[in-house]
Amino acid sequence: MASNLQLVRPPLSMRERLIVALDVDDLAAAKAAIKLLAGQVGMFKVGKQLFTHAGPQAVTLIHDLGGEVFLDLKFHDIPTTVAKAAIAATRLGVKMFNVHASGSLEMMRLTVREVNRVCRQESLRRPILLAVTVLTSLNETDLKHLGITGEVGDQVVRLARLSQDAGMDGVVAAPHEVAEIRATCGRGFMIVTPGIRPEKTSHDDQKRVMTPAEAVRAGVDYIVVGRPIMEAKEPARAAREIIDEMEHSGAKIIV
Ligand code: C5P
Repeated sequence: MASNLQLVRPPLSMRERLIVALDVDDLAAAKAAIKLLAGQVGMFKVGKQLFTHAGPQAVTLIHDLGGEVFLDLKFHDIPTTVAKAAIAATRLGVKMFNVHASGSLEMMRLTVREVNRVCRQESLRRPILLAVTVLTSLNETDLKHLGITGEVGDQVVRLARLSQDAGMDGVVAAPHEVAEIRATCGRGFMIVTPGIRPEKTSHDDQKRVMTPAEAVRAGVDYIVVGRPIMEAKEPARAAREIIDEMEHSGAKIIV
C-alpha cells in the first residue's frame, strides 16, 4: 500500500528526472532546442549565459512551449537582496532555482520564509529551493586560499547540512558527493547532479563524471545533462537513450 509520503510526493518518472542544460546564446537557439525536446524531458535549465542575454523571456519561452524551468542563477548576496530575487524567480513560475549555501544560514532562512509567504499570499506554486554547496571547479587549494581548511567533501557536507537546517529543499552536488550527502541529510533531501555522461560519450571538460544509471543508483533525484544532448545529431534520441539508461539502472527510488 502507498504510504502517505508517496501520496504527497508521488515518485517521479525517469523522464521527469532529466534536466537539460539550455546553454545557448540566444532565444532562437533556445527555441529550436525546446521544440525538439519539450515533452521528452523533465525540465530545462536556464543559466547565467542565456538569462543575461534574454532575461525572463527565456523562461516565458519555455513555459509557452510546454516546458518546466530550473533557473540556475546561483544567487549570492545579502539576505534581503537574495530573498527579493527569490520572490522574483517565484513569480516567474519556475519549478526550481538555486542560491549559494555559503551566502549564510540567515540568507537561506529568509529566502525560504519569503518564498513561502509570497506563495501563500499570491496563491503561487512553491518552487523547489536548492543550494549550491562548493562549486566543482574549486579544489582543496582554492578553499585554503579562501581560509577554509580541510577536505572539500567535508565542506560540501557541512554546507548541505546548513542548507537543510535553513529549510532548503536540497542541493546541487557533484556525482561523487551524492552518497555522503544522502547519508547525512536523508532520503527526503533533494539532490540535483550535473557532470553526467552516458557510456561512450565525450567527457568534454567534466572531470569526475557518472553515467545516468550510476547517478540514479547513487540516489540522485534529478540529473542535469547539457552537451551530450544539446550537441547530439538527434537531441531527442539522445535524451531518450539517457532516460532508457536510467530506467534500466535497477535503481529503486522510493520517494
Ligand atoms: O554540458 P554539460 O552536461 O557538462 O552541462 C552541465 C551543466 O551543469 C552546465 O550548465 C554547467 O554549467 C552546470 N554545472 C556543472 N557543474 C556544476 C554545476 C553546474 O557542470 N558543479
